[in-house]
Amino acid sequence: MNRKPLLAGNWKMYKTSDQARQFFKDLISLAADFSNDREVAFAVPFPSLEASVAAAAGTPVIIAAQNLYWEEEGAFTGEVSGSMIKAAGAGAVLIGHSERRQMFGDTGEWVNRKVKAALRSGLTPIMCIGETLTEREGNLTLEILDRQLTEGLAGLTAADTAVLVLAYEPVWAIGTGLTATPQEAQEAHAFIRKRLGELLGQTRADGLRILYGGSVKPDNVAKLMAQPDIDGALVGGASLDPASFIKIIKFDA
Ligand code: PGA
Repeated sequence: MNRKPLLAGNWKMYKTSDQARQFFKDLISLAADFSNDREVAFAVPFPSLEASVAAAAGTPVIIAAQNLYWEEEGAFTGEVSGSMIKAAGAGAVLIGHSERRQMFGDTGEWVNRKVKAALRSGLTPIMCIGETLTEREGNLTLEILDRQLTEGLAGLTAADTAVLVLAYEPVWAIGTGLTATPQEAQEAHAFIRKRLGELLGQTRADGLRILYGGSVKPDNVAKLMAQPDIDGALVGGASLDPASFIKIIKFDA
């Protein structure tokens, strides 16, 4: 099954629009060309969306948001809808990142509503799932992944999820410098794909990209990407510096 690798940066709450413009200028000058056998995306803060879209114009880089609210519009102070993100020129949106789940109360049901809202707005949802350290130590990893997948994809058919991307991010590996070993990551990815087969059918499961996230760096990306069920990376810290992210994009297959 041919799944095009997707290397995605997640800037979290970093970079103003000026800093975003400078980042893409530097990235483009370092990249010289973007090979078309890989996709590249950056999830940027809302106020940097338009500047990032403009700065990346003419390149294949996809700009993404980091969250959305599921209503179209209304009295929802502080929230941003999928159509607003789409109108800013973005093509994708992160949903259910563990920081949203842990710090901002995103529940499985919310994640599901947000995935559906992203699809309605024509955005690619990048739905994040992953276990905490306590859950891993309690041997609950597969149960947690199963629950987060089932909740997040509730009510969706294979056809609905044509553009969906998943990201497996063990919470204990995010921003800690601890990476899952390629084998641990592969095991989780293979389990996710098996469950996707049961939920959406084997054809869709075989075509769906599952990214790994959690302390991905230039020096560990190639080994992770060599695993059969790892189809890309979601990169936090190492996506903030163009020189380091370029090495991740150009990993040796
Ligand atoms: P990290 O973050 O690469 O800094 O560990 C990954 C993420 O949170 O998406």
